[in-house]
Amino acid sequence: MSNALLEVVNLKVYFYTLSGVVRAVDDVSLSVLPGEWIGIVGESGSGKSTLAYAIAKIVPPPGRIVGGKVKFMNRDLMELNEEAMRGIRGRHIGFVFQDPLTSLDPLRTVGDQLAEVIQVHLGVGREEAIREAGELLELVNIPRDRLNYYPHQLSGGQRQRIVIAISIALRPELLIADEPTTALDVIVQDQIMDLLKEVQMKGASIMLITHDVALAAEMANRIAIMYAGEIVEYGDTRSIINAPLHPYTAGLVNSVPDLWSAKTIKSIPGFPPDLRNPSPGCRFHPRCRQALSICINERPPMTIVEHDRCIACWLYLKR
Ligand SMILES: Nc1ncnc2c1ncn2[C@@H]1O[C@H](COP(=O)(O)OP(=O)(O)OP(=O)(O)O)[C@@H](O)[C@H]1O
Ligand SMILES: [Mg+2]
Repeated sequence: MSNALLEVVNLKVYFYTLSGVVRAVDDVSLSVLPGEWIGIVGESGSGKSTLAYAIAKIVPPPGRIVGGKVKFMNRDLMELNEEAMRGIRGRHIGFVFQDPLTSLDPLRTVGDQLAEVIQVHLGVGREEAIREAGELLELVNIPRDRLNYYPHQLSGGQRQRIVIAISIALRPELLIADEPTTALDVIVQDQIMDLLKEVQMKGASIMLITHDVALAAEMANRIAIMYAGEIVEYGDTRSIINAPLHPYTAGLVNSVPDLWSAKTIKSIPGFPPDLRNPSPGCRFHPRCRQALSICINERPPMTIVEHDRCIACWLYLKR
């Protein structure tokens, strides 16, 4: 899709550990359109965070991007050096990390941390940066006088809103939010989602990474389902939820008793595979009640089933 803001093509990210090569992201392709909200949904360890880190080229060692492309705003990020990437991160790709506490410096006031981002990236003076920091705080519904607070003086929800304020300070075109509400209660989760919605309304694309299919269904217009380092199905939210094609997607959707209010996924029997030695076939086949013999040894190719609806499953291909 040429008008995409972000295009990930056949991306592979492996961790070279002492006990073997962990294929955390293995041949993942997806695109994000300007202004859309995409949900990346999958169990713990399915490679969601690794995918997000790879998009921003911040995969920690011993991880390495070993194949594929990331195109963002019509630039091939794989070609850019670290200095050029620093101009993209924050400025064009905002990041809300999985653990908000680690994103804030406990020894500096939130105002100081917000103002620094604005000062460094936008090249404005200290006074203007502080004024803008105050405006950003109000935008995330925190009174301006909290600029002088240290992170520990704020609640978990307020801290997460400050992390979001920092990540949107430079008005990035893409905001990647990695499990932004995992540690927060449902009310605060709704507030954070409302805030992300506002960011989207202002024109940004949101990539919400979550294990919670119900949350993704509520917020995203498109959903990509990840399993064991691969995307197994993706498409518009309505068809993914109303008519899931992949048995894993169906398992996820059916395990939420009331999709519109339940907040956690009940587990599907069995465990995800060891990514150091995944099956050459479909990685879900040992847990799949509908598995065919072909699923054991042959990897199902990602197939377009209708406009922008894709699935990697032999059941569908053999139908
Ligand atoms: N630094 C690392 N070294 C070795 N393996 C890693 C490292 N980081 C992640 N992995 C492995 O890569 C795989 C994907 O991990 P990742 O953190 O991307 O999953 P996730 O979907 O974000 O999970 P969660 O929902 O728990 O956050 C896992 O098998 C994990 O053990
Ligand atoms: Mg993660």
